[in-house]
Amino acid sequence: MVAKRNGTKRQTALVTGGSGGIGLELAKVLARNGFDLVLVARKRDTLEAAAGQLEGTFDIKAHVFAADLRIPEAPQAIFDFLLNENIQIDALINNAGFAVGGEFADTELQRELDMIQVNIAALTHLTKLFIPTMIKRRSGRVLNLASTAAFQAGPLMAVYYATKAYVLSFSEALAEELRNTGVTVTALCPGPTDTHFAEVAQVTNSKLFSTFGIADAADVAKYGFDAMMHGKRLAIPGIRNKIVAQSSRFTPRALSAKIVRLAQQTR
Ligand SMILES: NC(=O)c1ccc[n+]([C@@H]2O[C@H](COP(=O)([O-])OP(=O)(O)OC[C@H]3O[C@@H](n4cnc5c(N)ncnc54)[C@H](OP(=O)(O)O)[C@@H]3O)[C@@H](O)[C@H]2O)c1
Repeated sequence: MVAKRNGTKRQTALVTGGSGGIGLELAKVLARNGFDLVLVARKRDTLEAAAGQLEGTFDIKAHVFAADLRIPEAPQAIFDFLLNENIQIDALINNAGFAVGGEFADTELQRELDMIQVNIAALTHLTKLFIPTMIKRRSGRVLNLASTAAFQAGPLMAVYYATKAYVLSFSEALAEELRNTGVTVTALCPGPTDTHFAEVAQVTNSKLFSTFGIADAADVAKYGFDAMMHGKRLAIPGIRNKIVAQSSRFTPRALSAKIVRLAQQTR
């Protein structure tokens, strides 16, 4: 079903991790631009509060679906719910993700396996589920949250950086495969951004988060939304982040790993 309001066709965006941080800011910019929303995260209360706030501010409908993307069956459950509710997804925003900070030898394996499940497997699974109908309709947008972490190895957050390298590589490959289908794929690569991310990763005292200045989540979301709507494959918000991404192309990989290690260390 394509919902209609005031006789105009409505588009719907699914935002994983849409209850906070960059995801909530993406939901706001989508709503401001007339998208109805499906917000997914674990905590139903926070989701409902976010949906209420969005519906109160913008003339849109915000559905919520509480799901834990660490669970491998969650993407299929989200897809089935939408099928059942007859809700068509025009824009898939794979935003949910988290990091685990620390030396790999010391970090907890289960948290890292969960991170791979959320950052990589759930993102891939949701894309697999939603892409076919987008191709059939010759219309659709996918926005995947990568990171500047995607461009080099990340000592003291080794698994997280590797997950984001996957997201970037996967997104760029898929964008090329889908060329001329009417479906676009955009990888958004923010640098450090003011959300709960650093707290969850336990890196609030790292030089990266406490010394260099961090971006505003609303600015990152607006940049990502505009890039997605223009069908751009790569979106790196901020001049400093662009330099980081570019410099990784000519810096020896061992040297850039050393630099990242210094940035990830506590002050
Ligand atoms: N902030 C940064 O510095 C930064 C930089 C580059 C890239 N990123 C990327 O941006 C994305 C968003 O991060 P953020 O900074 O906005 O983080 P955040 O403030 O911690 O928000 C994370 C969102 O994801 C949801 N979430 C977390 N675990 C989940 C799970 N297992 N299943 C379903 N939903 C889950 C959270 O809600 P619940 O807790 O209720 O589930 C919340 O809505 C991530 O992919 C992150 O890697 C962030």
